[in-house]
Amino acid sequence: MSWSPDSWRKFPIKQQPTYKDIDELKAVEEQLKNFPPLIFAGEARELKKQLAKVAKGEAILLQGGDCAESFANFNAANIRELFKALLQMNMVLMYSSGKPVVKIGRIAGQYAKPRSSDFEEIGGKRLPSYRGDIVNDIDFTPEAREPKPEKLLEAYYKSAATLNLIRAYARGGFADLRQVHKWNLEFVKDNELGHKFEELADKITEALKFMEACGIDPDNTPQLKQTTLYTSHEALLLNYEEALTRKDTFTGDWYDCSAHFLWIGDRTRELDGAHIEFFRGIKNPVGVKVGPTMQADELLKLIDALNPDNEPGRLTLIVRMGADKISKLFPPLLRAVKEAGKEVVWSIDPMHGNTYKTEGGLKTRDFEKILSEVKQFFEIHKAEGTVGGGMHLEMTGSDVTECTGSISASITPEGLKSRYHTQCDPRLNANQALELAFMVAEVFKDIKK
Ligand code: PEP
Ligand code: CO
Repeated sequence: MSWSPDSWRKFPIKQQPTYKDIDELKAVEEQLKNFPPLIFAGEARELKKQLAKVAKGEAILLQGGDCAESFANFNAANIRELFKALLQMNMVLMYSSGKPVVKIGRIAGQYAKPRSSDFEEIGGKRLPSYRGDIVNDIDFTPEAREPKPEKLLEAYYKSAATLNLIRAYARGGFADLRQVHKWNLEFVKDNELGHKFEELADKITEALKFMEACGIDPDNTPQLKQTTLYTSHEALLLNYEEALTRKDTFTGDWYDCSAHFLWIGDRTRELDGAHIEFFRGIKNPVGVKVGPTMQADELLKLIDALNPDNEPGRLTLIVRMGADKISKLFPPLLRAVKEAGKEVVWSIDPMHGNTYKTEGGLKTRDFEKILSEVKQFFEIHKAEGTVGGGMHLEMTGSDVTECTGSISASITPEGLKSRYHTQCDPRLNANQALELAFMVAEVFKDIKK
């Protein structure tokens, strides 16, 4: 079973674009192979260690960001607002659980999308589906929908610049706990949730003052003024991932250096497919989406293929069943994995099993269903005596109206139109994300009892 970064090319593959100019595609792939990696293998190893703690219940996983990042919305404000929203959730979860939070953004490379159909039809006109800004454009014209190899390069440059800003925020003072009051986003500040966050921020500020009196302050204890936001995306376009896969000079192992963490989507996880083949050879921590069609025997084979040494932190299973299905479909899988003694991180994606279209034709998700799936996930773990590691969310720091419901945002199906900006699936806005974090905080308090 030899493996190389290009061995996936001999396996059946789904969800890939068809490019017209193959020579141009090859030239772009060669260029990418010579570009600097976006992450260092040592960082991926550190994340794996952190995820091993999540698997044991000693830390919490928070993964979130856009469904699809877009080239048009590539700007500092969007990156900063998501960073703030994640920091706020981080504080709520950390304060309630007394555990560190491992933060991973769906960011700096989340540009490729699997689609349910290869074509889209509007008013009798049929064109190739939009597959994310790394492939083609969202406008409904033949020119826009044509896959263009040079977009792979643009995705690389934009990922690099995004990652640069994330690193600057994480290390340059933005995440300093003394700034905790400033993380409250403008449109959150004045509502009930904003006030709840202010109360928490006051408590943290008090604790900091006490610690400062004891001689522990952000100047002598860098953990108080720095954080780490790891990057992740769905590794869908394997030619892009292959080009950024490098042999680590310290260990001699292969790492996909396009992001710290990569996952396989629910539509491309066939055991004998190209995606599993590619993932089995890279040493990054990786994830797989576990949707309603997953069977226990299939899941065990998948775990063996991706984590043959049962290394803790290597594999995260991201459950996305839907609020109405999780109580029936998830327990048998959880029991099978527990009985087989497999070390995995269990995470809940309450977004992708709860999508529906409104009468007006907009894709949305109801906040109550999202909350309900998350709650059920943690309750099932409690009942089985296993660890619910964390969550995987489609969210933004902006004030969008894409998912309905929540106390703070109270968005109605009619109200969705006012700020519906997503390029793909509906995201939680910062209010809804914060409300979810407060709800999960209650669940954690309950688990501790
Ligand atoms: C996604 O995470 O955006 C996605 C497409 O999810 P899934 O593979 O679970 O459908
Ligand atoms: Co999505």
